[in-house]
Amino acid sequence: MKLLLKTDRYLLGRWKDALYQRIPGLEIVTFPFVGDPSDIEVVVAWEPPLGLLASMPNLKLVISTGAGVDHILKDPSYPKDVPLVRMVDPGLTQGMVEYVVMAALLCSRKMHRTFSAQARKVWEPETTPLAPDVTVGIMGMGVLGRACAGALRGMGYNVIGWSRTPKEFDDVQNFDGLDGLEKFLPRTQILVCLLPLTAETEGILGRGTFNRLPAGAAVINVGRGGHLVEDDLIMALDKGKVEVAVLDVFNEEPLPVDHALWDHPRVFLTPHIASVTTPESAIISVAEAVNELRKGLPLTNLVDTTLGY
Ligand code: NAP
Ligand code: GLV
Repeated sequence: MKLLLKTDRYLLGRWKDALYQRIPGLEIVTFPFVGDPSDIEVVVAWEPPLGLLASMPNLKLVISTGAGVDHILKDPSYPKDVPLVRMVDPGLTQGMVEYVVMAALLCSRKMHRTFSAQARKVWEPETTPLAPDVTVGIMGMGVLGRACAGALRGMGYNVIGWSRTPKEFDDVQNFDGLDGLEKFLPRTQILVCLLPLTAETEGILGRGTFNRLPAGAAVINVGRGGHLVEDDLIMALDKGKVEVAVLDVFNEEPLPVDHALWDHPRVFLTPHIASVTTPESAIISVAEAVNELRKGLPLTNLVDTTLGY
């Protein structure tokens, strides 16, 4: 079985080693690939170039190294009859939990004020609310959203969730659909976006959403840059509707050097590192998918390409 690997360059060697060690009987080629595209049966990829997958007539399985699959489905020529499996991995989940807890703490402890005072060398003590007095609203109660909700509850935050379909959790009130969003947003003091980027969720972090949040809310975007209308956020920050934002993903990555978000005094930003898939743990999911394909079993973590996640 021939497998094509296309990942970020700095992770390529580790992915290759992991594939050789965990999956016997594979012939691995890396991108850019010179050879006969009809030999490739499996692709493991992050951001495959447009048209690449459609050029492989015998492709049987595509595995995304990321939890999100928008980087694959944005290709209009994606061969829809080829199953697409997304990444679900305890390491990826742990990384996201750590980031979201860190970001929620930055917001609820108002560290933007503290760091600004430090930059000005001003001793400016103030009290901030404790977690039980703060409600975190998580958009997207999937694998990552649920894990973050559990960790935030453990810290004492009130947590509410929002999903596409109805869900029930023991200690997290969940809302669903557009009606549910109307109830969810006014209660949310710290908004966390952990949605997949789909036609329905694109631009969801925009003026309409910010206007429904309580004044002085915080926004944490760890979903995708396409969820956020960056100009609307800057306006909401400047009007005080949103007090602080923690952003990990952007419409254009790397974020252009002259972008206004770099210098905003109430924005913390990171370069899409909220949670990076580590090959050594994620290989277990990849091996599982290849094994299921070989044995003709139903695929775990199969993406519904019509829904886009
Ligand atoms: P998941 O398990 O597929 O969960 C997605 C959640 O979003 C589900 O609860 C789903 O609702 C909800 N949802 C989807 N469409 C919706 C809509 N139109 N309205 C309301 N809710 C909707 O995905 P995941 O593994 O948690 O990952 C979530 C996203 O995190 C990824 O797609 C990726 O974009 C992002 N991510 C970012 C990083 C980073 O480093 N920044 C790392 C990993 C992942 P249902 O439960 O009703 O289906
Ligand atoms: C990273 O952004 C992922 O989707 O896993």
